[in-house]
Amino acid sequence: MSLFIRGGTVINADGSERADVYIEGGLIKAVGQDLDVPSDAEVIDAHGQYVMPGGIDPHTHMQLPFMGTVATEDFFTGTAAALAGGTTMIIDFVIPNPQQPLMEAYQIWRGWAEKACSDYSFHVAVTWWDDSVNVDMGRLVRDEGVNSFKHFMAYKGAIMADDEILYNSFTRALELGAMATVHAENGEMVFQLQQKLLATGMTGPEAHPLSRPPAAEGEAANRAIRLAEIIGVPLYIVHVSTKDALDEIIRARGNGQRVFGEALAGHLLIDDSVYRHPDFETAAAYVMSPPFRSKEHQTALWKGLQSGSLQTTATDHCCFCADQKAAGRDDFTLIPNGTAGVEDRLSILWTHGVGTGKLTREEFVAVTSANTAKIFNIYPRKGVIRAGADADIVVWDPAASKTISAKTHKQNIDFNIFEGMTVTGLASHTISGGKLRYKEGELMVEKGSGSYVKRPAFQPMFNALEKIAVANKPTPVKR
Ligand code: URP
Ligand code: ZN
Ligand code: ZN
Repeated sequence: MSLFIRGGTVINADGSERADVYIEGGLIKAVGQDLDVPSDAEVIDAHGQYVMPGGIDPHTHMQLPFMGTVATEDFFTGTAAALAGGTTMIIDFVIPNPQQPLMEAYQIWRGWAEKACSDYSFHVAVTWWDDSVNVDMGRLVRDEGVNSFKHFMAYKGAIMADDEILYNSFTRALELGAMATVHAENGEMVFQLQQKLLATGMTGPEAHPLSRPPAAEGEAANRAIRLAEIIGVPLYIVHVSTKDALDEIIRARGNGQRVFGEALAGHLLIDDSVYRHPDFETAAAYVMSPPFRSKEHQTALWKGLQSGSLQTTATDHCCFCADQKAAGRDDFTLIPNGTAGVEDRLSILWTHGVGTGKLTREEFVAVTSANTAKIFNIYPRKGVIRAGADADIVVWDPAASKTISAKTHKQNIDFNIFEGMTVTGLASHTISGGKLRYKEGELMVEKGSGSYVKRPAFQPMFNALEKIAVANKPTPVKR
């Protein structure tokens, strides 16, 4: 079955044109005007609408086992909700327990993800170190198409990576042509502050942001950046939430270092007053790390996106319902960390980015899709409307409007951090793998129709870096 998107304006990160799009066999076959298409092609009328690459969310956690519970959104419900919002691919995380072989964890996550109804890929976390981790990283890059390794600098006593792990893993990532990525918060500092706050009787969610001050993020971002600089590995910092971390990224990029930064839709919109809500349930629903910040940080993040210092947007979609959050009723450190958003990211970014003039439509495509595809080496297969690319497309109605609510969203969670916000600009149709999967409020998804996307290593760039490293190698002084 072929699809013909007629009458819309195609928006890519590098330009826009009035063009029709013809899709066959899961691929974009032609983009242009007056296309010669088979008479039986299903027509999607896109007059007055934009035809854009489907969103790629580089940071989700479907059915993540975390903090004594499991995230409620699985790979099927989560990718379905994503499609309803115009996102056609997620990059999720394999997170091995310390001492668990990386390959074992990777196979478990691959099994869980088989039910996904959009395309997906995996970053793999390095949570411990020995020779087997070194070997498994090689297998993951060479055989499984993993080109990014995640390091949690927070969550002490669980999955935190100390400097020794960071050094070993960053060094191995460079050798393999993979990207190092970090959750940048000083986990020791967070742990000490948590104990101090609990000891003074601060047990509620209002203590959560106090235990994770902006400086703890700035310090960790700086440490990861400096380690990456010494080692020569490219670095991607997930969920940058503070001006402190952003300033470190700006400094490093100004010095020519390959450092990338991701902003979450939630961090761009929501401030830390939510943690002072009188109801425990409401305040706890916003508990995620790094926490929502005071308003000056949101202003800084928007400027970071506008200036290109932050290149991608994500959601860190990680769903815990009220009964799960209740585990921390008497101790905020036990509230499972995580909030949702995979369905809402594009509308939030369009409304508050394009709708306010902060972003052009092309920049919107860059920060929601194309830049992620480029940074994680799947461009131009993904992230662009072009003949030969995967037919992952959103038809975007800039005039359509809705008020976001947990009562109507498709996400499998009982709360929405954007509750009551009205957004203008919605997906009218979402095409995934060449098939129409969402149309004006209705999902037409099929369990397991998504495919695992391999992401090749960045060999040419890394060879160049290795040459620089060799050129800079010191020679011992002969005495
Ligand atoms: O609070 C969060 N972000 N939960 C998911 C794990 C992580 O840190 O990304
Ligand atoms: Zn994180
Ligand atoms: Zn995360």
